[in-house]
Amino acid sequence: MKYQFPENFWWGSAASGPQTEGAADVDGRKPSIWDYWYEIEPGRFFNGVGPKNTSNFYYQYKEDIALMKETGHNSFRTSIQWSRLIPDGIGEVNPKAVEFYNNVIDEMLKQGVEPFMNLYHFDMPLSMQEKGGFESREVIEAYVTFAETCFKLFGDRVKYWFTFNEPIVPVEAGYLYDMHYPNVVDFKRAAQVAFGTTLAHAKAVKAYHALNLDGKIGIILNLTPSYPRSQNPADLRAAHIADLFFNRSFLDPVTRGEFPSDLVEILRERDFLPNYEPEDLEIIKENTVDILGVNYYQPRRVKAKENMPHPDAPFMPEHLFDNYEMPFRKMNPYRGWEIYEQAIYDIAINLRDNYGNIPFFISENGMGVEGEERYRNSDGFIEDTYRIEFIESHLKWLHKAIAEGANCHGYHLWTFMDCWSWANAYKNRYGFVEVNLDENYKRTVKASGKWFKTLTSQNGF
Ligand code: BG6
Repeated sequence: MKYQFPENFWWGSAASGPQTEGAADVDGRKPSIWDYWYEIEPGRFFNGVGPKNTSNFYYQYKEDIALMKETGHNSFRTSIQWSRLIPDGIGEVNPKAVEFYNNVIDEMLKQGVEPFMNLYHFDMPLSMQEKGGFESREVIEAYVTFAETCFKLFGDRVKYWFTFNEPIVPVEAGYLYDMHYPNVVDFKRAAQVAFGTTLAHAKAVKAYHALNLDGKIGIILNLTPSYPRSQNPADLRAAHIADLFFNRSFLDPVTRGEFPSDLVEILRERDFLPNYEPEDLEIIKENTVDILGVNYYQPRRVKAKENMPHPDAPFMPEHLFDNYEMPFRKMNPYRGWEIYEQAIYDIAINLRDNYGNIPFFISENGMGVEGEERYRNSDGFIEDTYRIEFIESHLKWLHKAIAEGANCHGYHLWTFMDCWSWANAYKNRYGFVEVNLDENYKRTVKASGKWFKTLTSQNGF
């Protein structure tokens, strides 16, 4: 075998509660912003498919966890829906939700699949959004209470906790680029949401450590390395600025306890600094993570700004750099994302050299493909050889980073079974396991799922 991975490497996949459970208005769950947005603007979702019945995990979790085992998983991440556990955001804990999450966790442990639990995957309860989302101190405190409730209920069995998945996504998609509800376009408010999220995260880390449970807590960040078009100082500066906005805005405070000073300067000059109390900075400083999850899909290529933005246009990070399309880049045409495997190595080496070699794992990586049914073979399963190649080519670079001392502990694919993906709904499929929406959510393991079983049983390929 050419690529052998360290002992006890976490092999598995990731998903989230809102994207897989379905049962949106069952057993006491109340709406999140996704249910509400779909109700008022169904046209913003691919083929008009909303979040009500996503992949049916609420009813089929036993079968699904058996398939995790069958496909060689030793670990799996999902998330607890705040709107299921504490349906009003604040107050009563829903006993039906406790029962459901207990069942899922116990079943995973029974099948030898380590549960990794995330607490927030873009899914703000509607009642909390109405109070201002993470712009509001009350909502920050409510989130911390929700997190603490989860630690107390499930922390005896769940050993790996994550406060947020891709916390920058609700900031950019919801408050800058009109991609998610509440469809605000306002940099100052975006900065306030980012700060509020960072504070909520640090307070949850503090609450977890105070309970002295035998486990670790971290956060999951989507890191998109910024590659400059050239070595021209203007291109280098542009890439540095993009890196500050999209990577270091969260990476620095959660690992080093501080925001990058040059990012603070950019915001200060434009009067975009968020409101905060001096003790907030202390809390962020003192409560850094034990472990980092890294989601990696695509690189960002950047060049110096070519034209002045229109003076009336609302401020965007792209007012300080241009995105750059490298000629002949390798693309995933369905998602419109560049495929650049080496970035996974560059991320790992950056964490090794500039972030104290913090323990991390690849918490998402994957390839979304539209119309996969056309690859169904005569045995009735999807031959997704492109996915196998995608994973292998990323693992080769990850393996190299580990050989050079990067502190990486696992690899999770996005995702276990095809799931609902926000505004893209079921457009692009990412799973090891097909979910057939026309046949009552029938699950069929794809070629990649079978291949993963072999990979993980050999701990390499
Ligand atoms: C990740 C998110 O960034 O990308 C997931 O954590 C999401 O929630 C996945 O489903 C794929 O996104 P898309 O837009 O390609 O379907």
